[in-house]
Amino acid sequence: MSATLAERPPVRHPADTDREEIARRLVAAAARRSFDPDTDIEWPDRVVDDHYYIPPERVSLYGTSLWDMLDETKRIALSRLEVASWAQAGIWFELILAQLLVRYAYDEDYTSQHTRWALTEIADECRHSAMFARMVEVLGGTELRPQTATITLGRLMKTMAHPAEGFAGILIAEELLDTFQREMMVDEALQPLTRAVARLHVIEEARHVKFAREELERRVKRLSPLQRQRVRMIIAAAAAVIAGALVHPGCYVAVGLDPGAARRAARASEHRQATLRWAAAKLVANFDELGLIGTGAARAIWRRAGLVA
Ligand SMILES: [Fe+2]
Ligand SMILES: [Fe+2]
Repeated sequence: MSATLAERPPVRHPADTDREEIARRLVAAAARRSFDPDTDIEWPDRVVDDHYYIPPERVSLYGTSLWDMLDETKRIALSRLEVASWAQAGIWFELILAQLLVRYAYDEDYTSQHTRWALTEIADECRHSAMFARMVEVLGGTELRPQTATITLGRLMKTMAHPAEGFAGILIAEELLDTFQREMMVDEALQPLTRAVARLHVIEEARHVKFAREELERRVKRLSPLQRQRVRMIIAAAAAVIAGALVHPGCYVAVGLDPGAARRAARASEHRQATLRWAAAKLVANFDELGLIGTGAARAIWRRAGLVA
């Protein structure tokens, strides 16, 4: 290397040292422990509805009068379809996330550990989305793709979100799913396939959550009060859309229920609301600490979505 190049002042700001170190550790952790879903999971050709795919109390209709009307076979089938629906909402969001990370890396120093990490995370998400798609193929329910309105709102998010909103959105999707999956991976009463997929995803997502939390915190500190207000409203809307996208109404149709009535029953269910608050608890505590939910209109959106009390 020529002296001129070697003496060139570093692109990185000194305050970025810690953040570079965290990214370096995450890249190293990914090199030590990453999975290939095609070979690290035992894939059955088909599944038999003899065990639940998620715990019954996490099925959206659990505890409602409609749940009481379903026999055990249909309850198990509904749990299978809800996993297929979550998985496709997962792919939808991972596609948004990959685009957010590409846009983020585009503005970074290309040789930084941050860019290396962003590329590693995108590679993780590519494997996850392919894994979710393969799982849906086995479980059935390929028609349970997020609805057009959801896809359109996601398009706005992935095209227009600022990095703070992007990382907040990443955390909403990752942490909601993570809470459900951490419970699933240790529940021996469940189907082996959904447990294995949950376990792989939880292990790799822990790194993503760590990175997104650090980046979000760093960026939130730089926001003006007005910008913070904008971020609050956008992420409240994102949280509502993501929570609403988890269970496609087609799941209910497939077990012989009226989709409108089933959706209303799930929304009105005390038990379902408690489940959503449980899934969002870590996320909400983190966002509250950062002042990202507030006490006004944004919190009302979170409340309407069933994510805060
Ligand atoms: Fe993922
Ligand atoms: Fe992720």
